Parts: sequence; C-alpha cells; structure tokens
Amino acid sequence: MIRISVGEFYLGAEEKKVLTEVINSGRLSEGKKAFEFEKAWANYIGTKFSVVVNSGTSALIAGLIALKKKYKIRDGSKVITSPLSFIATANAIIHSGLKPVFVDIDPKTLVITPQNIREALKKEKGVSILLPVHLMGYPADMNAINGLAEKYGLLVIEDAAQAHGSLYKGKRVGSLSKLGVFSFYIAHNIQAGEMGAITTDDQDIFKLLKKIKAHGRMCECNVCTRKSGVCPPLDSYQGSDDFDPRFYHDMIGFNFKVMEFQAALGLTQIKKADEIFKRRNLNVRYLNDGLTSLSGILQLPYYSKDVSYLAYPIIIKDTKKVSRFKIRRELEQKGIETRPLFGCIPTQQPAYNFLKKQYKNKLPNAEYIGANGFYIGCHQYLEKDDLDFIITIFKKILN
Ligand SMILES: Cc1ncc(COP(=O)(O)O)c(C=O)c1O
Repeated sequence: MIRISVGEFYLGAEEKKVLTEVINSGRLSEGKKAFEFEKAWANYIGTKFSVVVNSGTSALIAGLIALKKKYKIRDGSKVITSPLSFIATANAIIHSGLKPVFVDIDPKTLVITPQNIREALKKEKGVSILLPVHLMGYPADMNAINGLAEKYGLLVIEDAAQAHGSLYKGKRVGSLSKLGVFSFYIAHNIQAGEMGAITTDDQDIFKLLKKIKAHGRMCECNVCTRKSGVCPPLDSYQGSDDFDPRFYHDMIGFNFKVMEFQAALGLTQIKKADEIFKRRNLNVRYLNDGLTSLSGILQLPYYSKDVSYLAYPIIIKDTKKVSRFKIRRELEQKGIETRPLFGCIPTQQPAYNFLKKQYKNKLPNAEYIGANGFYIGCHQYLEKDDLDFIITIFKKILN
C-alpha cells in the first residue's frame, strides 16, 4: 500500500557516513561538528552568528531569556504572538517568565497581521516583545512588524521553526529581526532528528546564548581547548592556572547542548537546502494545479515561489460538504498521513484553558483554522506518482 507521510528523513549513504565519522571521532557530546553547523547555518540564513541548541523549544526559551537579560525586561512582560502555532511557541514564552498575548492571523498566509498587532498595542500595557511565527513557511510581514517595534520601542524575535530558507523581500526569514529561531526536528525542511538554533547579528546576544545553553558557564572558546593546556584568560578574569571556566558560572542557565550526531546530520541537509526548498515548493504548485477543481470545498495553500513549505496546509471551506474528521479519516485509510493545523492555543488547547474565557470569539480566523485546517506532506522525497495519487484520492473522496 502507498504511504504518503507528512515528512520523512531518509538516512542515505552520506548521512550514514557522517554518523560513522562521529562514532570514530570518539567525541559524542557537543564539539567541532556543532561549531561547524553554527557557521554553516548563519551563512545560509545570512546572519553573523548562530547558536545550536537541543530543540526549537530550547531555542525559543534561550532567545527570550537572552533578550530579557540584555534589555532588562521584567518577568511578566508581554509578548505578542500567534495563536495558531505548534504549542511550543506559547509554552516557551511562559517558561521564560513572560506572558503571551495572542492576536488573530491572516487566513490566507496563516501568520499574524501588523493590523492586529497594532490594535493590540493600543490596548495592552507592558508589551516588550513581538514574536511572529512564520507558519508552514509563510513569512510574516516583517517590514511592517519591525516598523511597529520601532514605533513602540519593542524587540522582535521570529519563530522560523517551520520556515527554513523562506524569503521575505529577498532575505531569509530568521535574519529579519533581533533573533531568529529554528527547529530541526524530524520532518522539518532541514532536519537533524532533534535540534534547534538561534540566528542573530548581535554579538552580545550571541555570547549570552552560549552561556544560557551551558548553565551560564564562563567559557568563551567555541571548541574546548582545555586538553592543550590551561584555558585562555577571559577579559573579565586575570587568569590563574586554577581557574577552570567550565565550572565557574556567572549566570543561572540551562543545559541545551547538542550531540555531534545531530549537528553532523544537520550539515548534510544544509548542503541540500536549495534542492529541498525547490522540491517542496514545486510539489505545492503541482498539488494546487491538480486540486483546483476542489477549491470550492477546500482552501488550498496560497502559493509563492519564495516559500519553503513545511507541508501542504488545507482548510475546509464547505464544512457541510465534508468535515475535517471525515476527510482526515478517509485520507489516512488510503495511506495519506494528515495532521491538524495545531489549534488555536488559548481557546482550543486544554493546557491553556485558563485563557479560554478571555479570548472567546476574539480570534475567529485562528479558531476556524484550528478546527477545520489540516496538512499533508509535500516533502522532497515525494515523486510525481505520489502527487498524482494524492490528487486522485482527494477527488475520489470529495466528488
Ligand atoms: C512553530 C514552531 N515553533 C517551535 C517549535 C519547537 O521545536 P522543537 O520541536 O524542535 O522543540 C516547533 C516544532 O515543530 C514549531 O513548529
């Protein structure tokens, strides 16, 4: 039976080779491969720096904590973000001691709109940060969002966990604000099993992130040089041989470090990034062309050549004709995997029930899509036959 997965990660010859290299190097915990990945990722996104961490969620937390530290943002300050996202976005805000404020999204591109942010800024006191999510690869309107940030004295951090390589006015998302956050979770466009990264042009933030991810230790070397002698003296410390910065901590941090396996796998995918982007993008266009006859019933994904699609999002327009439950069940029975489009966090996620009353009827687009949206795969391993199979099955179910 044909199986069309939402995402795949084939471990081919190259991937197996680098995993073996890591085993043979004798170094499994974070080291040279992680450093190499950071340089390659910053280069791909177009920022001066990148820091790897063990997940996209950790990247969000580390990024938010770095902003809090550098700009002395108080606990309980507000972060305006999207209600339609994987729950990690909101969870990270809360775990960082901040408060999410949700504004509604554009139903076509699934991202928060500058107009809705502006309205919220007129009402809300104590907002410090704007956190747009480039959902499914669609870039938020960063020029307008940065303009609002400037006007109101706010910081911007992009959740680009689902948008590796997407272009906004010729620049890659994740390079358009103070910080960009990525997840390399399996089935994302660039994947490493589990891993995350933060991109930035700000050297202070870069140094803070290095500390935050490693329990606030005072090391400043990218790769440990301890084996070749004593640690180099830090600016802040007129060293003695007894000073071991690996075990001196001037900040309370986390352990967000990665394994060399993850960075090595990620590096193999960066090399293929342009091809992955292109294949996914063309697959979306092909599916859209094949499914146009169903566009009275389904909202097919908005197509742009600049979007690096995480998946193929579909929203049911005519819920009398078909329910999400029915179509998902039939697709799954035919071997086409589906996922719901996350849900509206404050009103449809039980963990956020404490916000349900506050947001009732305030986020109609996110709520509609949260209840009637789902996605299927459009990944780089799908062949023409797979795409034709998807088109045939949709037509069978809906005609
Ligand atoms: C929009 C968004 N933000 C954050 C994350 C968290 O990434 P991770 O699963 O690597 O922790 C994800 C994961 O899929 C995501 O989709």
